[in-house]
Amino acid sequence: MKYGLIGSAGKLGKEVINVFNENKNELVFSFDVDGEQFKSKPDILIDCSLPEAFEELINYAVKFNVPLVVAPTGLTEKNLHQLKEYSKNKPVVQSFNYSIGIQILLELTKIANDKLPGWDVEISEAHHRFKKDKPSGTAKMIQNIFKGKDINTTSLRLGNIPGDHTVSFASLGEVLSIQHRALSRRTFAEGILLATGFAVKKENGFFSFTDVVFGK
Ligand SMILES: NC(=O)c1ccc[n+]([C@@H]2O[C@H](COP(=O)([O-])OP(=O)(O)OC[C@H]3O[C@@H](n4cnc5c(N)ncnc54)[C@H](O)[C@@H]3O)[C@@H](O)[C@H]2O)c1
Repeated sequence: MKYGLIGSAGKLGKEVINVFNENKNELVFSFDVDGEQFKSKPDILIDCSLPEAFEELINYAVKFNVPLVVAPTGLTEKNLHQLKEYSKNKPVVQSFNYSIGIQILLELTKIANDKLPGWDVEISEAHHRFKKDKPSGTAKMIQNIFKGKDINTTSLRLGNIPGDHTVSFASLGEVLSIQHRALSRRTFAEGILLATGFAVKKENGFFSFTDVVFGK
């Protein structure tokens, strides 16, 4: 596959380049703060930048008229609306977390929430010191399971942690913790590779990584 990458100089962008190279995909377009590199029109555009580059992402997507796989966290409701509008024409996969294990954490959290009425719930997340948004996009995905209920969420910014999330449920007599740890950013790049394979087979539509992992 010939792919384009926004945020190619960043930590996640570099992992994507490694994983996509290993799988014989060709980087034909890249864009970061130092400008663009263009070899040929990509078949798909991947965004591993920050929300600050969102307008450029949409401009390039419209210019190339290709499917999108979008990874940044901290996107606004307006950004998500723009992606949904774009997805009427071309497929868009958007997720705040491209690891498979988090998909299972989300499922287990839904089960625990259904089966444990009245239990206390707290979310905690830990990420590297460079992460700009707080709480993490993944913590927001977990919060959404509780449909408007205010779930206390603790964010730690420590060292080089790629991403830890824990959902804790407690009654007076017991505590249940559902925990996920990403061991490296590579796992997200592998998920993004899966998402691109999914997106190029679709005509159009707005998809989550849940759709990619469990099928839609
Ligand atoms: N969805 C996921 O699974 C997942 C996993 C890890 C990180 N993330 C998110 O992906 C994003 C990138 O993470 P990272 O750790 O690689 O961050 P990073 O800061 O290392 O990389 C971001 C890159 O975007 C570039 N950039 C920023 N503003 C730009 C602009 N206006 N124009 C062009 N380029 C611009 C930066 O120069 C940098 O190279 C963050 O939002 C992070 O939270 C998502």
